[in-house]
Amino acid sequence: MPWTRHHILSLADFSPAEYDIVLQTASSFREVLSRRTKKVPTLQGQVVANLFFESSTRTRSSFELAAKRLSADTLNFAPGTSSLSKGETILDTAKTYLAMGTDMMVIRHKEAGVPQAIAAEMDRLGVRVGVLNAGDGQHEHPSQALLDLFTICTLLDTDNPQLSLLKGKKVAIVGDILHSRVARSNIWSLTASGAEVHLAAPATLLPKEFSDYVKEEPLKEESTSPSSPVVALDRRLFIHWSLAPALQNADFVMTLRLQKERMTSYLLPSLREYHQQFGITRDRLKLCHPEVKVLHPGPVNRGVEISSDLMDDPQFSLISQQVTSGVAVRMALLYLMGGGKV
Ligand code: NCD
Repeated sequence: MPWTRHHILSLADFSPAEYDIVLQTASSFREVLSRRTKKVPTLQGQVVANLFFESSTRTRSSFELAAKRLSADTLNFAPGTSSLSKGETILDTAKTYLAMGTDMMVIRHKEAGVPQAIAAEMDRLGVRVGVLNAGDGQHEHPSQALLDLFTICTLLDTDNPQLSLLKGKKVAIVGDILHSRVARSNIWSLTASGAEVHLAAPATLLPKEFSDYVKEEPLKEESTSPSSPVVALDRRLFIHWSLAPALQNADFVMTLRLQKERMTSYLLPSLREYHQQFGITRDRLKLCHPEVKVLHPGPVNRGVEISSDLMDDPQFSLISQQVTSGVAVRMALLYLMGGGKV
């Protein structure tokens, strides 16, 4: 199947074949990154602009490195020192980058929908500029979910990571699901793989649409999919207000940061109490599959969502592999958007 997607904005309508193309392409870039000369000429002469209207450490650096490893020229935008502070609109900022010959824009914004609006404007202008959503508000963060998927699949089969490796596995996603774009994208990719996805959070940190569905039964497809899903998949999503049923026999535990900057009201008694009830510790992992692995997209509140010693324990933690995978996966996404043949 050829790659046809010009923008990468959401995983809601990604097909299993598309996930597999990303996984295979990332796998070949992973090999490139293991060489002494970690660079290929694939995007030579192309310009990739990183428009991060919200702060970021790993995502922004990872996209910049990915673009550089593909030999693209990179432009980095910092909102504090830009003309946004002089009243320029976001669309005008994007058009300024377009006028400089930008071929791809990687966009992060604290409001949901900004990358989509810029992509629509590029399409309206009839220009072939690919837009990649690097995190929009509480909506989606596709490249993070794809790197999480790649990290898990390469662990299951180093040389041949494929979506189907996750079929029948149990993945627990624990923490601030309400504010998490990472969780929303991961729900799409992991349920597309045939894994059983179990969300666990205090009721106040689960999206409202999930709160009256706290049962150990899969959430029905129509509750989670857009109005006209492109692919009808048998998605298996379970919701829990306590941790134990989500951890029971889990193969992977994905922890999420408490996004205090997005909490507009009083949602938690205290961080200590949250850790007591939902913090991932060595002791709690005894409920899981003996070979369980723990993921976290970072940044981590050490000792809150995950105990500090566990975070650094290579027997359980995949956190640094996630960061490493991020570069190969983002190289794959830029390559595919740039019209790379697969
Ligand atoms: C996440 C984000 O910004 O959405 N981090 C990331 O991209 N690695 C998650 C978070 O901020 O907690």
